[in-house]
Amino acid sequence: MRFFPLTNALQASQIALGGNIFGYFCDEKETAALFDAAEECGINFVDTADVYSAGLSETFIGNALKTRRDRWIVASKIGLESGGDPRHCGRPENIRLKIEASLRRLQTDYIDLYQMHHFDPATPLEESLRCLEALRREGKIRAYGLSNFSGAALKAACDFAGCYAMPMPTGNQRHYNLIARAAEQDAFPVAARYGAPLLVYGVLARGILSAKYKTGDPLPKQSRALRSPSLRQDLTGDVIETVHQMAQCAENNGASLSQAAVAWSLRSQEVGAAIIGMRSPEQVRSIAHAADLTLPSPFISELETLARQIEAAHANGFGVAPLYG
Ligand SMILES: NC(=O)c1ccc[n+]([C@@H]2O[C@H](COP(=O)([O-])OP(=O)(O)OC[C@H]3O[C@@H](n4cnc5c(N)ncnc54)[C@H](OP(=O)(O)O)[C@@H]3O)[C@@H](O)[C@H]2O)c1
Repeated sequence: MRFFPLTNALQASQIALGGNIFGYFCDEKETAALFDAAEECGINFVDTADVYSAGLSETFIGNALKTRRDRWIVASKIGLESGGDPRHCGRPENIRLKIEASLRRLQTDYIDLYQMHHFDPATPLEESLRCLEALRREGKIRAYGLSNFSGAALKAACDFAGCYAMPMPTGNQRHYNLIARAAEQDAFPVAARYGAPLLVYGVLARGILSAKYKTGDPLPKQSRALRSPSLRQDLTGDVIETVHQMAQCAENNGASLSQAAVAWSLRSQEVGAAIIGMRSPEQVRSIAHAADLTLPSPFISELETLARQIEAAHANGFGVAPLYG
């Protein structure tokens, strides 16, 4: 497993467990089993949010980590109500209220990385950032981060941090994968300039890039497409066909497409970690060592050429969250 410096003192695995599975698709026992498998594979980083499964994700994580909290780096987020509206979520009084609830659910005194889930267009950014910095000084969080901030909003946050001698944000989460690369245009240059790593999610395009879907076959048991109408809509014949060509290309290079997609997402210096929605211990084991893979350039070119066909034909971006700033 490869690691990246989340802070000077914290080395996080480049593959993180995605927490929006817990509570929705994994019960408490399954959640604990995922943590066991992840630890065996060298993963020490989990990402969740107060809004995931209306708090149940944090509760399950708290129970799973009760006896091993110090071995894990826990990231959580505030800033989305269940309706998906980020306005006013970044108000200091809201942040203060929400972090106490998250700490209780997670059964911990501190959150390693506390992130604004979305840019809040209704609250001056500096008010939110000052509050996060105060929480850091109080020891309730080890670092603060952002999520779904555009390049311009990330730059504004970094400039503010620079002016007020605050640490730079530790990461900005962005949707990023082989078939949805918009983050390269706006977020990558800012991340490189300020040394604020990106934490990427959606790396498997909600499972499309596992190549498990086949035209004419029933949807695989327990697959995400059975639960997600929007994913079913994205699974058009041309997508499935091209993904299978990508899988063949990966196989010719000795990897599964899932492994190649994860390794590809981690190939740039701007990316600190890939947050992946692994749903079973088998999925954890099959993908964990992808962080150690270095893909040869001709393989990358071949994969990208095929992926561009999908990206060009499906401009909706495959599950990309809206950016508010
Ligand atoms: N900041 C944000 O706004 C934001 C938004 C979305 C997500 N996230 C974070 O990113 C995490 C991941 O997002 P995501 O789940 O939407 O996207 P994802 O990681 O691209 O897709 C997850 C899906 O990929 C499949 N999968 C996972 N591991 C696999 C493996 N080893 N082999 C084959 N298939 C595998 C599973 O599909 P099946 O279920 O079909 O097996 C799973 O449901 C979330 O849990 C969350 O922590 C953040």
